[in-house]
Amino acid sequence: MCGIVGYVGGQQAAPLVLEGLTRLEHRGYDSAGVAVLGTSGIKIAKQKGRVRDLGGTLPKRFQGRTGIGHTRWATHGPANDVNAHPHTDAKGLVAVVHNGIIDNAAALRQQLTDDGLDLASDTDTEVIAHLVAGSEQDTLEGKLIDALGRIEGTYGVAVMHADFPDRIVVARNGSPLIIGVGEKEMHVASDLAALVRYTTTVAHLDDGEMATITAAGFTTFTADRSSTHKAATTVDIDPAAYDAGEHDSFMHKEMLEQPTVAARVLRGRLDERFGTAHLGGLNMGARETRAIKRVKILGCGSAYYVGQMGASLIEELARIPADAEAASEFRYRNPIIEPDTLYVAVSQSGETIDTLLAVQEIQRKGGRCVGLINVVGSAIARECDGGIYLHAGPEVAVASTKALTNMFLGFALLALQLGRVRDLSIADGKRLIAGLNALPGQIEEILAKEDELSEIAIGLAGAESLFFIGRVRGFPVAREGAQKFKEISYRHAEAYQTSELKHGPLALISDEVPTIAIVPNDELADRNVAAMHEIAARRGPLLAVTHEGVDFGELDAVRIDVPANEPELDPILLTIPLQLLAYHAARHLGHDIDKPRNLAKSVTVE
Ligand code: AGP
Repeated sequence: MCGIVGYVGGQQAAPLVLEGLTRLEHRGYDSAGVAVLGTSGIKIAKQKGRVRDLGGTLPKRFQGRTGIGHTRWATHGPANDVNAHPHTDAKGLVAVVHNGIIDNAAALRQQLTDDGLDLASDTDTEVIAHLVAGSEQDTLEGKLIDALGRIEGTYGVAVMHADFPDRIVVARNGSPLIIGVGEKEMHVASDLAALVRYTTTVAHLDDGEMATITAAGFTTFTADRSSTHKAATTVDIDPAAYDAGEHDSFMHKEMLEQPTVAARVLRGRLDERFGTAHLGGLNMGARETRAIKRVKILGCGSAYYVGQMGASLIEELARIPADAEAASEFRYRNPIIEPDTLYVAVSQSGETIDTLLAVQEIQRKGGRCVGLINVVGSAIARECDGGIYLHAGPEVAVASTKALTNMFLGFALLALQLGRVRDLSIADGKRLIAGLNALPGQIEEILAKEDELSEIAIGLAGAESLFFIGRVRGFPVAREGAQKFKEISYRHAEAYQTSELKHGPLALISDEVPTIAIVPNDELADRNVAAMHEIAARRGPLLAVTHEGVDFGELDAVRIDVPANEPELDPILLTIPLQLLAYHAARHLGHDIDKPRNLAKSVTVE
């Protein structure tokens, strides 16, 4: 989604802002722009397309030591040069970049037009520039407070004004903003990725907070002008994590990191002696944990699918009713929030607006919500009552892989802890711990099959449409496999419960529609094989992601055997080859793996 970068200091702002924007490219965008504030006022360059193309068009005299930039993911109005940010007022005194959506933009546009102003773009953002310019307050802070007072909606916003050349004023409501502290210079960005090359000393703004940034430092305050006294802290992030290194894409790098990050999320959290997990971050004692009667998991996209895997783990190990729901739908059905339900929000970015709003709905109604979050200090992590950090490191590729694996492991740890304060025996707890400890090595074994999987993927890439099928534990695996495949290969990939196939979709099976069947070696293996026979009888090409012991008899199916773990933990191992299939199919088709069309890494608008 949209990205914001800003700089104030002794250096020329444009190259720094552009460099910051390239670091945000992975978030997904369709146009880019930069504004600098120098001795001759504000200069703007913006256009549809890539940041590097924008950089190539900047005139030599595009100079100024204060600057803001933006990558836009179109919401109001098509992707074109005019709609790209920054936006300005009629006199070109104010420049604004904005992430989020202004809900009352249409009414405000009408009022501005009635006042005789010509709006240049179709965007909601442009109104902010006009409102700031129209304010009679005598400081930039006051002008922005005035403007935001008339706005309904979400924003991360950064504003420059020709009359206040030493500063950028920013405000946050629903869209992240982080201030980066340098040596006599300051940065601001919507994502750490744009800052870590320059500084790891940062301050995250909270919703409702504003800040003034000058070369000398920053101050934070609220709309009633009271100071929030925010101090900067140091984040423990290696800037190399934002480099793909020898890999052709971040997705490839991140898939291969899975054995390492899987070991990391488990480290220090397993208690071998008592066969349990220790999750201090949940902030819950044994008595409170025992009082939980139900678990409800909320996430979006792949996080929702892994949430379904998590719900199975919790039901199987702790015997507590558990289910997962798309966070994007949750609050719209006026959900019943129960005091003895544990709500779990799961998110890599910790910024997904739908998940954040679900958490807020739960908390408004007095529910307890914990988070399974990767990005430390992110909005959802901060809103939750406790949680488990996933320690997967920065995930740059839009298609989530390593964070997802660690979400599954986070759920396994939670299920173990919930189970062991109930009826899960110490022997079963130890069995699970042995399984968890074996997982990183088994993931490594699967990744070592990359060449074989690449060949299979090239075969699949030609199909316009594919089915991914699975039952019970295997169904969320199929959903995640289809999701990954469609995201980056742009092929129609549909997930179905194997048992439901003959109730409709079997009509679509033909020799041009391959089916990828998830067939663990469990009590349903025979039923899965029987369904595959029905597909074969209709000439449907078959691929099985399975375990060595499963016998397919005469069935003409390509098989990918993954190592078996404990049955409860198998789903994540069955998921790994599906990542590689999607990746190699997309690569074969020549797609931009890390920046799939129309998608964004953090979905910060509804
Ligand atoms: C995963 O490959 C997708 N890009 C997407 O479904 C993602 O999982 C979803 O948008 C949720 O993101 P989050 O984990 O950052 O909340």
